[in-house]
Amino acid sequence: MSKSVSIFGLGYVGAVTAACLAHKGHRVIGVDVTAAKADALNAGRSPIVEANLEEMIATCNRNGNLSATIDGVRAVAETEISFISVGTPSLRNGKLDLSAVENVCQQIGRAIALKNAFHTVVVRSTVLPGTAETLVIPTLERSSGKREGIDFAVCNNPEFLREGTAIADFFEPSFTVFGASNPRSLWALRELYAWAPGRIFETTLAASEMIKYVCNAFHALKASFANEVGALCGELEIDPGVVTEIFKADTRLNISPAYLTPGFAFGGSCLPKDVRALTYCAKDLDLKLPLMESILPSNAEHVSRAVEAILQTRKRKVGLLGLSFKDGTDDLRESPMVQVAKTLIGEGCSLRIWDKNVIVGRLIGSNRSFIEQTIPHIGQLLTEDMDEVLAEQEVIVIGSKGIDRAALLARLRPDQVLIDLVSVDRMTVNVRVTQQVVAQAA
Ligand SMILES: NC(=O)c1ccc[n+]([C@@H]2O[C@H](COP(=O)([O-])OP(=O)(O)OC[C@H]3O[C@@H](n4cnc5c(N)ncnc54)[C@H](O)[C@@H]3O)[C@@H](O)[C@H]2O)c1
Repeated sequence: MSKSVSIFGLGYVGAVTAACLAHKGHRVIGVDVTAAKADALNAGRSPIVEANLEEMIATCNRNGNLSATIDGVRAVAETEISFISVGTPSLRNGKLDLSAVENVCQQIGRAIALKNAFHTVVVRSTVLPGTAETLVIPTLERSSGKREGIDFAVCNNPEFLREGTAIADFFEPSFTVFGASNPRSLWALRELYAWAPGRIFETTLAASEMIKYVCNAFHALKASFANEVGALCGELEIDPGVVTEIFKADTRLNISPAYLTPGFAFGGSCLPKDVRALTYCAKDLDLKLPLMESILPSNAEHVSRAVEAILQTRKRKVGLLGLSFKDGTDDLRESPMVQVAKTLIGEGCSLRIWDKNVIVGRLIGSNRSFIEQTIPHIGQLLTEDMDEVLAEQEVIVIGSKGIDRAALLARLRPDQVLIDLVSVDRMTVNVRVTQQVVAQAA
């Protein structure tokens, strides 16, 4: 179904979005404060350099689907949906400059004030989570005198194009994301993107705003990681191409969703030791690898946050459920839960610890001697009886993915505080059990 769309900001994102939506048969009006950009579009020329864009703009301009103006009020009056794709650069201190977004919201708001029909405003610029709720909606409501959700809707639809392959990226997206405070607000976007291949995710405004940053931060992380691997290989006279080729061949653990679910700090006998060895090796070569060097400090922060959340309850009788570094193992070497236990003991907490795989009486070999020789004070706090922990302790901490949270919840008293360090929905769990928001750990 053909729709009418105005696009505010005819830079890389706006020009590509305008041309591609017009190519799909929608009637598009581009809007820019720079008259030369609007003039270029009206003359069938592209305001930016991008492969195949000029031809697409010329065709859509000829068939009447694409035009441009500097008159935002007219553009809003003549369309059902307005995209905001103005720039959001960094200020000198790194803060996001939202002045262009605010200006354009004032302009669209004034135009909505003059309009009787419902209007949908879609933020496509990259903006931090909360921008729609704290800036876009209030500015539109103030300048229009109307209400979001009643007279107009605000949605978020982040752009994932890469310059140079922008048109191909637009038509073959990895996925499409729609954010709104109410799914009913999304009907116009659903129709506009009816042609889109790949999965379409509908979520909240803030999650939709966040996903764009998570993607870009991850891409930056991957590029920096590869460059640091390359630099270290270079110093060691190893071909980095060979190493990264083999590395990329593992699509189960390396190039995969593995290790990408937020949870608690990592530990165990390998990851910390090997990251430490690699960064020491680089230091020995006088090679700075800031990314690799930041991994263990980043991991340690999760332990500190967990301890802080427990201490903030102001209760001192703490039960830890889970002690080994990973569910399904009795390995305590470099376990972050051992670190949590040690710190809490130092803070004067009275601990009881239960881990179904760490029963001292049944341990043999190196794990038993690790407990007896390295952490005997923690070994003494272990119990085989989870009920004992639940009966005696005021704060119960889940430190293992093997704990059945639902069953545990049913057994807790209202005066007990549950802190879940390992699951993604831990915030909800905390609120539900305790009726008080405990600072989110990790
Ligand atoms: N460039 C990319 O590859 C890319 C990819 C994804 C997301 N983004 C994000 O999209 C947004 C836009 O990026 P861009 O590279 O297209 O920016 P850009 O600087 O190329 O274009 C912004 C345009 O907005 C216009 N503008 C400013 N105020 C206006 C107003 N009040 N009314 C109408 N037009 C106005 C400017 O004149 C300019 O033409 C940014 O938030 C950016 O982070 C960019």
